[in-house]
Amino acid sequence: MNVQLVPSAAELRARLSSIRQAGVTIGLVPTMGALHAGHGRLIEQARQESGCVVVSIFVNPIQFDQKDDYARYPRALSGDLEFCDSRGAGIVFAPAVEEMYPHPQRTFVEVTGVTEHLCGRSRPGHFRGVATVVLKLFNIVQPDRAYFGEKDAQQLAVIRHMVRELNVPVTIVEAPTVREADGLALSSRNQRLSPDQRRIATQLFQALQLAEKRIAGGVSFPDQIKQEALAVLGQQPQLRVEYLEIVDPEEMQPVAHIAGPVRVAAAVWVGSTRLIDNVLCRPG
Ligand code: PAJ
Repeated sequence: MNVQLVPSAAELRARLSSIRQAGVTIGLVPTMGALHAGHGRLIEQARQESGCVVVSIFVNPIQFDQKDDYARYPRALSGDLEFCDSRGAGIVFAPAVEEMYPHPQRTFVEVTGVTEHLCGRSRPGHFRGVATVVLKLFNIVQPDRAYFGEKDAQQLAVIRHMVRELNVPVTIVEAPTVREADGLALSSRNQRLSPDQRRIATQLFQALQLAEKRIAGGVSFPDQIKQEALAVLGQQPQLRVEYLEIVDPEEMQPVAHIAGPVRVAAAVWVGSTRLIDNVLCRPG
């Protein structure tokens, strides 16, 4: 294996400083591990654009609003290392919790506005934990570019706002959502689904696709589209809807009327597994 596993922030900084001095650009792919082809897409894109790719693997306790979800989050470091190696990553930064949070964390990044709705509303404190750990990773790695997936569109909006408003010297690169053949967005949480639940989960993308079709067809009333999409989700009694919203793609605020591009975003529960997905839709 060529990839180097680095658990210490100080050691990572030392290695990256000599890499940077040699004029090599650094691309960072932040992850929580249990890597799949969606993460792979980000690593491959980073590989094409950056001289050295750092993948961080850290299940970040401060972004989980439920202890049980944190405890049950899949962890698979040795498989993840091979995955990163096969895709040409140079370094895997996999710190322990005590390495990332050696002191009680009293400093947090709070991004307002874009976090008011969707996951920001239903998971209090989640984006505060995400923004805080991502800024810490940016400060440790000091990457030229950092790669994030459209799958977590609100997270991406939070990070773009944070970088702009706190003058963080990094370019944020967005990669499209990677899906299974039946449309289900890849997620580390999918492995928790039973075969029956896995079949039911497909309904999420089907509802989003219907919304996309209606918007492209010229329907401009969000409530009408939401009702139709919710009816698709309602066909599966075992699927519980947390939210389904039609929002402005930059500010993540619900729109009253569809006159330009919008993002249709939803979170659903299948059993005890929470799934999110979204599509960018353009009126016809
Ligand atoms: P995680 O869920 O592991 O996702 C890491 C990155 O992979 C995110 O940018 C996410 O949007 C992207 N990703 C996940 N599934 C994808 C898919 N199906 N297609 C394309 N990209 C996908 O998101 C996090 O971790 C954390 O919140 C993190 C940013 C690492 C902070 O802790």
